[in-house]
Parts: sequence; structure tokens; C-alpha cells
Amino acid sequence: MCGIVGFVGKSEASPILIEGLSKLEYRGYDSAGIAVMENEDLKVIKCKGRLANLQNKLNECPIKGEIGIGHTRWATHGEPSDVNSHPHSNGKGTVSVVHNGIIENYLYLREKLMSKGYEFLSDTDTEVIPNLVDYYYDGDLLEAVMKAVSKMEGSYAIVVISTKEPDKLIAVRKDSPLIVGVGKEEYFIASDIPAVLNHTRDVYLLEDKEFVVLTREGIELFTEDREKINKEIYHVTWNADAAEKGGYEDFMLKEIHEQPKAIRDTMTSRITLNNPVVLDKINMEESYAKNIEKIYIVACGTAYHAGVIGKYAIEKLSRTTVEVDIASEFRYRNPIINDKTLVIVISQSGETADTLAVLRESKRKGCRVIAVTNVVGSSVSREADDVLYTWAGPEIAVASTKAYVTQLIAMYIIAIHLAELKGSTKTEELEEIKKEMLKLPEKAEEVLKHKEALQKFASKTYMHRDMFFLGRGLDYAVAMEGSLKLKEISYIHSEAYAGGELKHGPIALIENGTVVISLLTQRELQDKMVSNIREVVTRGAKVMAITSEDNKNMEKIADSVIYIPKTLDILSPVLSVIPLQLIAYYMAKQKGCDVDKPRNLAKSVTVE
Ligand code: AGP
Repeated sequence: MCGIVGFVGKSEASPILIEGLSKLEYRGYDSAGIAVMENEDLKVIKCKGRLANLQNKLNECPIKGEIGIGHTRWATHGEPSDVNSHPHSNGKGTVSVVHNGIIENYLYLREKLMSKGYEFLSDTDTEVIPNLVDYYYDGDLLEAVMKAVSKMEGSYAIVVISTKEPDKLIAVRKDSPLIVGVGKEEYFIASDIPAVLNHTRDVYLLEDKEFVVLTREGIELFTEDREKINKEIYHVTWNADAAEKGGYEDFMLKEIHEQPKAIRDTMTSRITLNNPVVLDKINMEESYAKNIEKIYIVACGTAYHAGVIGKYAIEKLSRTTVEVDIASEFRYRNPIINDKTLVIVISQSGETADTLAVLRESKRKGCRVIAVTNVVGSSVSREADDVLYTWAGPEIAVASTKAYVTQLIAMYIIAIHLAELKGSTKTEELEEIKKEMLKLPEKAEEVLKHKEALQKFASKTYMHRDMFFLGRGLDYAVAMEGSLKLKEISYIHSEAYAGGELKHGPIALIENGTVVISLLTQRELQDKMVSNIREVVTRGAKVMAITSEDNKNMEKIADSVIYIPKTLDILSPVLSVIPLQLIAYYMAKQKGCDVDKPRNLAKSVTVE
């Protein structure tokens, strides 16, 4: 979503801010801007559109100064426009602010300020912040920011700069991420780590309502009661290159290729043969596991699709009832949950607003919450009772790929863990699953070798306006993910159906030339799926089948076949999703789409 960068040091701030913002482009944005202190005068340049537009403006009118703030905005209140872009300033131009999140009571605050003579230029909620800070300023900027924040309701990560105290930046967060980068005589503030990685790997992860003051001399952290905080530095172990394209044309393609490593990393030190799974940040007692009455898995988008696989795996191995739900639905339907309900939330970013709301509501109702997330220090990781990190590394492309497969691994790990605690599945069967899991990275490498065939398929089919994905059981869950991937990056309409549902309506849409991508990896359901494929072939559909390498019969029925290496049925989604990701990728490329930043989408949906 929106991105924040701030800098204090002895170098020119503008290029550092622009470079930092460019590392956050993946979050999605529609306008950008910076404010830099030039000789105790606050200079603001901002505009609608990409960062290149901002750079052009800066070239025409450079700003010199060694302290500043920058922002990329994804519109919520007010359309994308120059005036709605951040930073926002008070009328006198003495305070500028960048802000991520939403100030829910901004209309009330705005009216109050207007009644005191303040004027507003934009449609944004953010504009109340610099005016509030100005209103409360009485010789102490930190005090003024604290007072302003105490009046604000909603979510925010803000950074404030002011001519009143031109040597400092002041920042605070609530329900929106913010980190502080600690360099040598230079300090950074950002909404995400990649923005500072070219300068430092030492960061502080700010908690809600922690205030930070950054000057050239250093950093001071305060509670909202202005007590000093001592915080441990978090050392980032992945380097800046990990957040760059590394020779691939797009982040998405790079991330698809990183899947074997991501799968391996997520299993490392957790899955070993002849040992129970080891989960460092989950401390579940046997008695607790045996008393769970119901498990809910709740998430959004791709993470939800991983949850659907989680349901199959957990129910099969732990014999506990599992329901999967979409976070935005779950949170508003007053679900029947209590201290015997285990809630598992899945979120790559760990910042998704609906998922976070589910986590909080579940905790409020006494449930234990496990968070499965990819981002260390993210909101869900901090607020959940237990955390299982997916070690996929930073995922930059908006379309989730490597995070999804690692979420699947996390689901299997939790399923095995519960089964071990409950004794619900024979040890030999669990050992067999672990053995096969450890082979998945190599097998995923094998699947990636089909890229040329998939590219060819895409080049023949990308002009189609509609496509269908079919599967049964776990294959249906993967079909849903394949369909979402295709929609979000290629803008081709597609639907996923459970094979058995065809006759109940969707088959009416099948006509000569309709493209159907079908999955057949579940041995027990194979014959049923073959019947479904025959039904669509008879009506003229062109079928691509994705199936296990031992199922050569498919060549007689489907127009093209992609084989995935043999594995256990329960684990096949980790492999069968890869061709679907590549199909979506190549279709989007054929159409000339920006695969990393699809239209209308943002990487991290931190507002409802
Ligand atoms: C995935 O390709 C999507 N862009 C999207 O559905 C995503 O999975 C969803 O917004 C949830 O995000 P999260 O995992 O960061 O919570």
C-alpha cells in the first residue's frame, strides 16, 4: 500500500528519499512526494503518477537539504492527484507529514480545526495531522506530535518534519508498520525494510504508540508517556540483492524460481526424520491439542487458498474439524468461537487489515491464535499467541507465489504437529509424509523445467477472454489459486470449479474452443475427473491437464499435458500450483501487462 521513507544525516536527502521510495514501489502507489528542509525552510514537491514524474519535477527544481521525508500514496481518501499526494503541510508550511493508514475521526478533527481558522486544501484524512501538530506546538515538537496523536483515531504510521525544530524527524505508529534504520551518523525511518537496506541492516522494529525522534546525533525512543525506551536492534540477514530482481525480468518470475529454496528454508530445522516437528514459536501442550473442539483458518486472497489446503491436511492428519473463512467475512458474522477454538491466521505481509481484525476479535473471545506469516515483527506476528514464520524471504511482486507454497508447508507442519500431539495418525504415516516433504524442493525444480512448454501454451491462448480451472479435492483448492493468479496479473477472466459442480451450471458456458485447465493429482478422484474432462472435450473445450508423471493416460484425452513428479496426494498442491503460476505469468507477459504491479492492486492491504 503506501510507502514511507525519512532520512537524517550528512548527505543530500532527496536522492536517498527517492531511492528508498523506489524500493517500496512494489507496495503499489498512485502518487509520490518528498519534503526536505532547505536552510530551515520546508520545501515540498509532490505529484500524481510514478516516481519518475517526481524525479522530473526535482530535476527542474532541485531541493538541497540533509533531512527529509518521502511517501508513495495509494489513494483511500480522495482521488489520486497532486494535491492529495503526501507530504501534507499546514497552511503556513511549517509542518509536513507523511502518513500510512486512515484517520477515522478526521472529519471531526477537520471541523474543529476549521472552527479555529485552519484551512484545508486536499480531500485527505492526513491533512489534519500537520494542522493538529501546528495547533498543539508550544515550543516542543515531540509534545505537539504526542498531543496530536492522542486526538487521532484509526491506524497510522506517521513521520513529521517542522521548521520549528528543523534538525529532527518525529515518527510514531499504530496498526501500520514502521521501522528505524540505524546507519553511521545517518538514520532512516521507513514503512518497510527494503527501503533502507542499501544503507544499513540494523533496524529497530517500532511497536504501536512508540515515538521516535531522529536527529544527526542519534535516535531516541519514547513511550506515549514520554518515558525512554531501550530497544534491541534487529539485524537483517537478507541483503539488498534479495529484494532486487537478481537477473530475472520481473520479481514475480524470480520469486517463482525461488520456490524450491523457500520450501526448503521453511522446513529447515523443523522437519527431520524420526523426530517430532520442532516449532520454536509454538508452545502447544498435548492436553491443549486434545481439547481443541474446532479450528478456524482465516485469511484473505492467496493466503485463504493456502488455508483451504490447510483444512484438508489438518482434518486428515489430526482428525479435528476445520473451517476456513475469508477474513472480511469472518470478522462481521459473529462466529461461534471460544477458548476451545484454535484460530490460525495466515498473512504473507502480516499487516492485512481484515486478518489482523480477526486475530484481535478471536483473542478477545478467548481463542488461542497462531499466526502464519512471512514478515518478522509484523503486526500479526506480534499480536498472536504463537507464530510460525514462513521463510520465503521478501516477496515483492504483488501476486503471491513463493509465499503461497511456504504457507502450504506451514499448513502441513501444523497438521503434523497436531497429529503428533493427539496421536491421531500412525507415526509411520507421518514419517512418510515428512520424507516426501523433504524431497519437495528438488521436485519443484523439476516442475520449473516445464517453463518453455507453458510459455508456448500461453502464447497460443493469451487472446482468450475467459478460461476455466477444474479440479476435485485438493486440486480444486489449487485451481482456485491458479484462477486468482491469472485474473490478477493477466486480467483474463477465469473461474475455478470443483469437477462435480460442472453439471450444476458452469457446463453451460463450455463451447467450441473454451480453454479448460484441469488438475488431476488426487488418485482416488482421478476417474471422476477424467469423466469431467470428457464432458468438456465433447463440447469442444481445449484442455490442458496437469497430472502426476505416472498418469500417461491423459495424453489420449487432453490437448496438452504437464507432468509433475510423483509425490503423496496430500503434498501435490506444492508442485501443481507452479505450472499455474507460470501460465498466469506468461499470459500476462504476452499481453504486455506489468506483472509485478498489476492495475488496481496493492501488495499489502492495510485498510479495509
Ligand atoms: C495474492 O496474489 C494477492 N495479491 C492477495 O490475494 C494476497 O494474498 C492477500 O491480499 C493477502 O495478503 P497477506 O497474505 O499479506 O495477508
